[in-house]
Amino acid sequence: MEIVIVPDAAAGGELIAAAIADLLIRKPDALLGVATGSTPLPIYEALATKVRETDLDVSRARICQLDEYVGLPKGHPESYRSVVLREVVEPLGLTESSFMGPDGSAEDIAAACLAYDQALAAAGGVDLQLLGIGTDGHIGFNEPCSSLASRTRIKTLTERTRVDNARFFNNLDEVPHHVITQGIGTILEARHLVLLATGEGKADAVALTVEGPVSAVVPASALQLHPHATVVVDEAAASGLKLADYFRATWAAKPSWQSI
Ligand code: GLP
Repeated sequence: MEIVIVPDAAAGGELIAAAIADLLIRKPDALLGVATGSTPLPIYEALATKVRETDLDVSRARICQLDEYVGLPKGHPESYRSVVLREVVEPLGLTESSFMGPDGSAEDIAAACLAYDQALAAAGGVDLQLLGIGTDGHIGFNEPCSSLASRTRIKTLTERTRVDNARFFNNLDEVPHHVITQGIGTILEARHLVLLATGEGKADAVALTVEGPVSAVVPASALQLHPHATVVVDEAAASGLKLADYFRATWAAKPSWQSI
C-alpha cells in the first residue's frame, strides 16, 4: 500500500486527477469507478479543469458507480446515480451512455446486485476505483463486519453513517436505511484502488486502515490485501499515523518516472 501525505484536499485532488489522466492516455476507454460524498469532489473538479484547459481526451472514458441508496425514487437528486451524473459525468462532457450503476429502485434488489457485478465483469473490470472512507472505516457502503469476500449486495446502514450523510437530505428520517454497495471482494478486483481521505474526522479510520490489522470491523483495511492500493491523505487525516515520517520520506524519494 502506498501512502501519500498531501498538504490539503486540493493537492490530493490534483494528484489523483493526474493519475486518472495518465490512465486515460494509456487506455482511453478505461473504466473509472467513482465514489460519492464530499471528499472526492476536488478530484472531479481537477479532472474537469484538465479537460477544459488541456488536450486531455476523456470522450471514451467509462464511469461506474460504487454504491447506491435503496428505495429513493428514480431521479431523486441525492440518489448516487444523480450525484455521479451531476458531479462527474456531465462536467467531463460525457453522457449517461458512458455510465453504469446498480438500480436502487429495482423491484428485485438481489437480482439488481447480481446484475451489477456481472455488468462490471462484462465491461472488463474496473481499471481505477476511487474510494472515500466513512468515519467508521467503511468503503462504498460496506459497513463494519462486512465480509472481506463480499460481492455487490444490499446492506443496512449504521446509525453513524446515516447521521454523517443526513447533511445531504432535509432531515435524518429521509436518509434511507438500505443501500446497494459493491462488495469488498468486488472492490478488490479493480486494478488500482485510490482512497482519498481529508480532515481530522477521518484520522482514526485512516490509522486503523493503514496501520491496523486487516479486519472486517474496519472494512477499508481490506486495501492491505490489494497489490496496487494508494491512500492519499491530507495532514489532518494523516495525524494518527505512526509511520507518517516514513511515508513522507518514501514519497519524497520516489523516482519521478513512477506514478501512483
Ligand atoms: C458515503 C459513501 C462513501 C463515502 C463516505 C464518506 O457513505 N457511500 O463512498 O466514502 O460517504 O463521505 P465523505 O467523503 O463525504 O466523508
